[in-house]
Amino acid sequence: MRQQALELVTKLTTEEKLLLIKGMGSWHTHPIERLDLPSIMMADGPHGLRKQDQGGDNPMGLGKSTQTVCFPTASGTGASFDRDLLHRLGEILGQECRAHELGVLLGPGVNIKRSPLCGRNFEYFSEDPYLSSEMAVSYTQGVQAQGVGVSIKHYAANNQEKRRMTTQSVVDERAMREIYLPSFEQTVKRADPWTVMCAYNRLFDGIYCSENKRLLTEILRDEWGFGGLVVSDWGAVSDRVAGIEAGLDLEMPDSRDLHTDLIHDALDSGTLSQAALDEAATRVVELVLRAVQGAAQDVALDAQRPACPEELNVRDHALAREIARDTMVLLQNDGVLPLSRAQSGVAFIGGFAKQPRYQGGGSSHVNAYHVASAYETAKTEGLAFEYAEGFGASDYNYDVVKARAAIDLAEKSELVVVFAGLPTNMDNEGADRKHLDLPPCQNQLIAQLAAVQKNIVVVLCNGAPVRMPWAGQVRAVLESYLAGEAVGEAQIDLLYGAYSPNAKLAETFPLRVQDTPCFGNFPGGTATVEYRESIYVGYRYYDKADKDVLFPFGHGLTYSKFDYTNLRVSKKNITPDDIVNVSVTITNTGNFDAAEVVQFYVAPPADDSLFRAPQELKGFGKVFLKAGEKKRVTVSLDSRAFAYYHVGRKAWHCAPGDYTIHAAASSRDIRLSSTVKMNSEAADAPYPALPCYAQGLVHAIPDSEFEAVLGHAIPPANFASPRELTWDSTLEDATQSPFGRVIAKIIDFAFPIVCSIAQDTIGDASGMKDTVMEMPVRSIAMWSGGLIDRRMVNALVSIFNEEAYLKSICDLVCGGVRAVKKVVGKP
Ligand code: BGC
Repeated sequence: MRQQALELVTKLTTEEKLLLIKGMGSWHTHPIERLDLPSIMMADGPHGLRKQDQGGDNPMGLGKSTQTVCFPTASGTGASFDRDLLHRLGEILGQECRAHELGVLLGPGVNIKRSPLCGRNFEYFSEDPYLSSEMAVSYTQGVQAQGVGVSIKHYAANNQEKRRMTTQSVVDERAMREIYLPSFEQTVKRADPWTVMCAYNRLFDGIYCSENKRLLTEILRDEWGFGGLVVSDWGAVSDRVAGIEAGLDLEMPDSRDLHTDLIHDALDSGTLSQAALDEAATRVVELVLRAVQGAAQDVALDAQRPACPEELNVRDHALAREIARDTMVLLQNDGVLPLSRAQSGVAFIGGFAKQPRYQGGGSSHVNAYHVASAYETAKTEGLAFEYAEGFGASDYNYDVVKARAAIDLAEKSELVVVFAGLPTNMDNEGADRKHLDLPPCQNQLIAQLAAVQKNIVVVLCNGAPVRMPWAGQVRAVLESYLAGEAVGEAQIDLLYGAYSPNAKLAETFPLRVQDTPCFGNFPGGTATVEYRESIYVGYRYYDKADKDVLFPFGHGLTYSKFDYTNLRVSKKNITPDDIVNVSVTITNTGNFDAAEVVQFYVAPPADDSLFRAPQELKGFGKVFLKAGEKKRVTVSLDSRAFAYYHVGRKAWHCAPGDYTIHAAASSRDIRLSSTVKMNSEAADAPYPALPCYAQGLVHAIPDSEFEAVLGHAIPPANFASPRELTWDSTLEDATQSPFGRVIAKIIDFAFPIVCSIAQDTIGDASGMKDTVMEMPVRSIAMWSGGLIDRRMVNALVSIFNEEAYLKSICDLVCGGVRAVKKVVGKP
């Protein structure tokens, strides 16, 4: 295919190459009709298709999208710890793509959950790179087996929404290699993703990911052997010429002629090589050919593969229910669950019973086919219960009347199931949360219900951890995450014991936001965000600091009990070239058929010269066992399971010594341990003495230690204010000028209107106003669909800088005239 693409590119004119390396509209590649090269369509992803009707090529990509099935988001699928489930989800989504004639599905999101506050955590799998990698590899293989490509995103170190389009992630090399890159690396090496989507933010040397040669070429292609295409995140391009040289193949969406003249000038002057342009064009052609071949491929998930999208929706809704059951985590249960179907005096309380949260807001928002609530499902299944709202699904403030009715009902009931969670605008692309709390109306009511009723079960719908001040007063908590459109059906299946919960947390639930390792360094200053905690992300930190947490990584209950016996390692004395097989017998000693997620953690030898996490997840298996049944679970550990990234050697290194291998039911429920001795050469210490890192004092890391780990000076956290603005400056920066303040007022006024127009395609965007203000000025041109050109953006920047008013206003007026002519179709 590469050969065919290379040959085709020799027949292209420069103009055609320039068309190919930018999108057509919001979702397509450009066709080259004279060479029979078609256009292909891409769509979000990751947990359902957001395909816009009629191609949806309005400038901002905000048209209504086709009705498709919404599956559980990645916070839940990550918690499944189930490679087969991810593979199956990938297959289903790949089939849907085929039915909807899509060439690439824009997912999975494989960024690490650095802080539980990140608004987009619901789209990411885990705080742990090994788990995230395993989930991403299986999902990718599942989708691509259907002849459809994925786009693993957002490459890289894009771990927050605040200032996501401009901030620089200041991360040390070791944290990059050990925490933030592995999900990309493993997916590239093991699943050959068709595309990788580069992130919005700046990274190494403060260079945008979209033009970062180290990231896009040296690491991705030269080191990992990536052979696919790099696509920009939508609107992530600043300097297109630099991007082509750096390895960014396809710019999305269509930037019209925004960069055309500059690319021509660069080709003429030799600052951009023809070879680099040809390479980018070749990769786009290759992607298109791959998609064409994929579309002709004969694949079937099962013998009765439905022929049309409507039938697919019916089939996939049923599959969404099965998948959702495996993604909900039973956090606590004193035996009250499962409920008997004959249980009398049951009350459902909380608006989420009727209006569940089942997905997040933003680009992953699916126009769901059929949302099933717990209320509706329980009615359909003939279960007896009464209902009081107590609080509305989008309420913040306590409502005395609603609460009173709920308390009265709780008092006369025998058991209360409270359906609670985060309101829609709190799990959102483009906006991070400010705290970990549920709305006050929910916390207050749950505490009041607990005062009158001792049998309380709380069912939560949220994309990321919340605080649970009432946890000690309720008998059970079921974390549903954002479980897709079959959420209510799955909740009823689990609550009433048709099926045992079996997922485990892919992230830690901390007690307080102040406990989180990046607290104080999230979301950073106006220019950078400092990842001072380095490798101490999630449980790596909580374990190191010996901190209590609400629920630890890997925790989750079932309706059964499991015994761990007979832990064996295949070799006790190993070298870095060995593979060690570790196995343990798991017995279901309870009365319920259920699956157990068995986790294997590796604890390194004590070594004063190097800071390390006390233990790291390096293997897991999920085993379904009937009551009384037992099976052996085996994992294989290679050298990566023991290694750390040695920054001096620029390589992975296994330190010599005794490593402990734990077989565990959670990161804090170690059942059995064994040791192996690594026989390897010792390496020089990669850093000088770093007392705070050595002790895990991540909130007190002094500049000197962070600089030692970074290997360079810490760049300034904030831009000077006021400062000379550029086209990468944000609309927020522009409010330093009177004109910028006028624009801010206009946005204030127009934002609710745009939100209501966009409701169908990106969900509740009301929490995303900061995102608009944090957009770079260049984005105005990008999203204008070619109406605002480079000259007009430059004029705007001059006005924001309060200079060259007359010329700039002339440029804007002339540009405006050109835009009007374009709209009315005159040359
Ligand atoms: C998001 C991507 C998404 C793209 C297209 C961007 O804003 O960051 O994840 O795939 O939009 O909708």
